Amino acid sequence: MTPPDQLTETLRQSRQLHLLAFWDTLSTEGRSRLASQLEGLDWNQISDCRQRAAQRREQQEPSAPIDLSSAHTPPCHQLGEATDAATAARARGHEALAAGTVGAILVAGGQGTRLGFDAPKGTFPIGPLSHATLFEILLGKLAAVRRRHGKPVPLAIMTSTATDAATRAFLESNQHCGLNADDVFIFCQGTLPAIADDADCLLLDAPDHVAVAPDGHGGMLGALAASGGLAWFGERGCQTIVSFQVDNPLAQPLDAEFLGQHLLTAADFSTQVIPKLHPEERVGVVVERDGVTEVVEYSDLPAALASERRDDGRLRFDAGSIAIHAFDRRFLERTAAAADSLPLHLAHKKVPHLDATGTVIEPTEPNAFKFERFIFDLMPLANRVTLIEVDPAESFAPLKNPAGSSSDSPELVQQALSDYARRHLAAAGISVAPEVTVELDAASILDDTDLVQLADSGKLPGNRIDQPLIVRAG
Ligand code: UD1
Repeated sequence: MTPPDQLTETLRQSRQLHLLAFWDTLSTEGRSRLASQLEGLDWNQISDCRQRAAQRREQQEPSAPIDLSSAHTPPCHQLGEATDAATAARARGHEALAAGTVGAILVAGGQGTRLGFDAPKGTFPIGPLSHATLFEILLGKLAAVRRRHGKPVPLAIMTSTATDAATRAFLESNQHCGLNADDVFIFCQGTLPAIADDADCLLLDAPDHVAVAPDGHGGMLGALAASGGLAWFGERGCQTIVSFQVDNPLAQPLDAEFLGQHLLTAADFSTQVIPKLHPEERVGVVVERDGVTEVVEYSDLPAALASERRDDGRLRFDAGSIAIHAFDRRFLERTAAAADSLPLHLAHKKVPHLDATGTVIEPTEPNAFKFERFIFDLMPLANRVTLIEVDPAESFAPLKNPAGSSSDSPELVQQALSDYARRHLAAAGISVAPEVTVELDAASILDDTDLVQLADSGKLPGNRIDQPLIVRAG
């Protein structure tokens, strides 16, 4: 059997015929696997990737750092202030939750490479006492909102080819972490092929398989629309859709004031930021340049600009993105068609591949470019962007690095979760003995209202906790 004519022609035109080098040695199954992968590739997108790779190869890009000379940090609403505006925003947010018009997207396609964890990151046990997984904690928060407001928050979970099957199996066997199966929509992001750094070539990582990598969380919008997820949100009556990352168990994407500010300012795109204190913090920053609001990723911000300070001592670019966004659903519908034209970001990586003899090469140095799109690149397309500054102690404890690391490690995340619990228990009049670890059960404790009820119930003798305790309501 020869390769399909049309496929051979496509590969010839794009000068990628080497991808059929092992065709004659393949079984029937292998041939059909390779042919269907190649036929499924989007050659228009690949052409954009090849163009970007060529520019990088010719050294055009590193010499042209982003021009931020006219840029500044846009104004932010501060969350949690005792003002009439904040009270009005909270009321508006509660109204939306009670009306059931809020949906959520959990971005969970990353492979957890930095964390050194083989399974989907969402299955990492992180509860300081319960060892609840990231999925259980994050989905538990949505269950708590349903319990309080009587309406579910429909949730779409974005997986990738690397995490899809294991994520589905985990959610099935854990009863969707307290959510109704009907309220959960799982969709898989796409991939983009890697391209060699020294030649205009896609790579094979097996005789019957092209080396590909997830297309970044910017693949979310295209994949959501193509899978029917965007229409699903519409059918469910969701007007506002929040998105958040699986790596942050302190994320508060359904905070009523955040939702209310988003709605009251009629924003297409709102985002939570934290004050970036140190130039080396690995968070993107929100900037405004020539009237356009956008996120500049930390890896794209030149070191000199990252450390520039204003007269008041704050960093010039200090609106650190924690990747918790709220979108108007109509904005996502409007921009879905443009999802494939979001900018491509390149990463120079080690990509195992076959050499001409079919031997697997495990590179010791980066040898290829991988391509990703970022969801925050939708921001410049928004008519109105609202920034809400949150307290990192209340909203941001990302798990990125393995045990023992000096930042974003499991130990530090667990400490942040216990500190959060201790602070909120204290605010409700429940004291915790020094050095004692405490944890709030995400599914039963939504906020301080639940803790005040617990304090009033007399279930905790003297309203004092002396032993490690998972605090549950009800
Ligand atoms: C990310 C943000 C950064 C932000 C920081 C906050 C990007 C490019 N940068 O940095 O601006 O300040 O988080 O913690 O997002 N993911 C997918 N599919 C992919 C790639 C990633 O679903 O193809 C998911 C991961 O599961 C994870 C999230 O996106 O939940 C972030 O990815 P990661 O690579 O960890 O981003 P950071 O470099 O930490």
